[in-house]
Parts: sequence; structure tokens; C-alpha cells
Amino acid sequence: MTSMATIEVPTSAPPTELRTSDLTLGYDDRIVVRSLDLTFPIGRITAVVGPNGSGKSTIIRAAARLLRPKGGAVFLDGKAIARIPTKEVARRLAVLPQGPSSPEGLTVERLVWNGRYPHQGFLGTSSAADAEAVAWALRQTHLEDFSERTLDALSGGERQRAWIAMALAQQTPILILDEPTTFLDLGHQLEVLELLGELNERQGMTVIMVLHELNQAARYSDHMVAVQAGSIWRQGTPDEVMTKELLEVVFGVHADVRVDEISGKPYCVPLSRATEADTEAAS
Ligand SMILES: Nc1ncnc2c1ncn2[C@@H]1O[C@H](COP(=O)(O)OP(=O)(O)OP(=O)(O)O)[C@@H](O)[C@H]1O
Ligand SMILES: [Mg+2]
Repeated sequence: MTSMATIEVPTSAPPTELRTSDLTLGYDDRIVVRSLDLTFPIGRITAVVGPNGSGKSTIIRAAARLLRPKGGAVFLDGKAIARIPTKEVARRLAVLPQGPSSPEGLTVERLVWNGRYPHQGFLGTSSAADAEAVAWALRQTHLEDFSERTLDALSGGERQRAWIAMALAQQTPILILDEPTTFLDLGHQLEVLELLGELNERQGMTVIMVLHELNQAARYSDHMVAVQAGSIWRQGTPDEVMTKELLEVVFGVHADVRVDEISGKPYCVPLSRATEADTEAAS
């Protein structure tokens, strides 16, 4: 990775808490998540893991106020997020949804400028700090040479990096990313994860990310939340969550879990699919 430029510390005071209380979520008549109480540790990196359809994106979208709860609430610094004005929420929390869609013809630079919206004044006047933040975000994602290109003319991985750049330009104390490494090759995956690690370490930025790659989730997070069928199966340090039992019960896979000597973090080696009988016996 290239060296980091100095990062402007976010202007708003860092939040002290993001939590859900008795949160029930769903679509139309269908309930997907029921009575969820979850606190995202501030200043830490949380990885949310779980099988397809378990409710990860639903939880993430509600936490970022993109989905209205059917019951309960999300609290940012003890205040119901539904009652905080949109711009204020966007100054504290940036979100990269899963599979975002963009208007046709939008250039990378325009997209990244959108991240500055919450910082701009009345009538959308922009400042030197806005231009600096946009340039910085483009640099961090190695997209300087792509700034004039339209999103539809990019590869899947380049487009994903453009969305990450938009979220970075927002310069919020909390960054929520739903599968930020999708479409990225291994080098670019590690680059994004290392960048998030640096932002966390240097600025105390709270990072909440959904990851499918369990070894990366364990390696790059301080806190893991394993979701199964809309509930928390277990949460804690990677050591506590990344277990044989997680693989078997939640993902239906027999695996060995070992400790990486260099990072000291657990990693799994999948062996085979577990049968339903195995999974039931283990749970
Ligand atoms: N817009 C929607 N309308 C109706 N049902 C939805 C909608 N979005 C998600 N669901 C359903 O809610 C459940 C949870 O979906 P969610 O997207 O939260 O899963 P996920 O854990 O993020 O899965 P993935 O790993 O595939 O992204 C699924 O059964 C899904 O079909
Ligand atoms: Mg999802």
C-alpha cells in the first residue's frame, strides 16, 4: 500500500455509542430480525459475519437509518437515530450499502463529491476542505486517474473502490461497509482492509463491516458478530467467535480452526460440508 497522507480529523465530535435496542426488522409482512440488542464498540473494528440471507444487510441498513424498524430503535449517543436530522447523521456515520446503484453517466469524481454533501453549507457551497477530502479519498483508493470516467465504464472492482472513496470522503467517525471487498482481487481486498485498519488506529474511527471471508474477518477485526437467521449467534473477540462450532452450526462446514503464528488471530481451514444431522448435533 502507498503511504498515507495526513488525514483531516473529522469535524464533529466522535460519537460514543451506536446500539440497537429491541430492534425488529422486516419487509412488508415478513419479519427478518427480531428483538435485536446489539452494541457496536466505538473506536473498534467490528466484522459482521453470517450465511446468505441471515439478515446482515438488513441490520446494517437499519443501523445506518436506511431502513425503518418495525419495532425498537437504533441509538446514536443515546438519541434515537430516527429523530436525528439526516445531515447530522451523515456527518457522524457513512455507509457503503451492498450493491449500490448509481445514476447513469455519473463520474467517479462527482460520486466522491457526493460524500461531502453533509459538510457543505446552505446552498451546497463547498470549501477547500471538501476538495482536499475528495482528493484524499481518490488517492487512498488509487482512483486519481479514473476521476473523469463514468461509473458504468469501470470494472466491478474499480466501481467498488469508487463507492468506498465516496464513503471515505464523508470523513465520519463511524464507517459502515456492507461487503466492501466484493469484486476486489486479493491485493485490493487487503489494501481496503489495511486502510480501514489504519483509519481505526490513527483516528479511532469506528469501522463496522460485513465480510464473507471469515479468515479476513477474524484477521482484521477486534470484535466479531455472527448472525444466524436474524439473531446473534455469538459475539466477541475473533478468538471467541471463530470456532469449529461457528463453522459447523452457522455455516454447515466441518473445518479446522488454527492460530496464525504471525498475527495471533484464528483462521479456519474448511474440510467438508457438514450434514444437517451433524449441524443439529453440534447446536
Ligand atoms: N428489499 C427486500 N424485500 C423483501 N425481502 C428482503 C429484502 N431485502 C432482503 N430481504 C430478505 O430478508 C432476508 C435477509 O436478507 P439480508 O439482505 O439482510 O441478508 P444478508 O445476510 O445480507 O445476505 P447476503 O450475505 O446474501 O448479502 C432474506 O431472506 C432476504 O430475502
Ligand atoms: Mg447482504
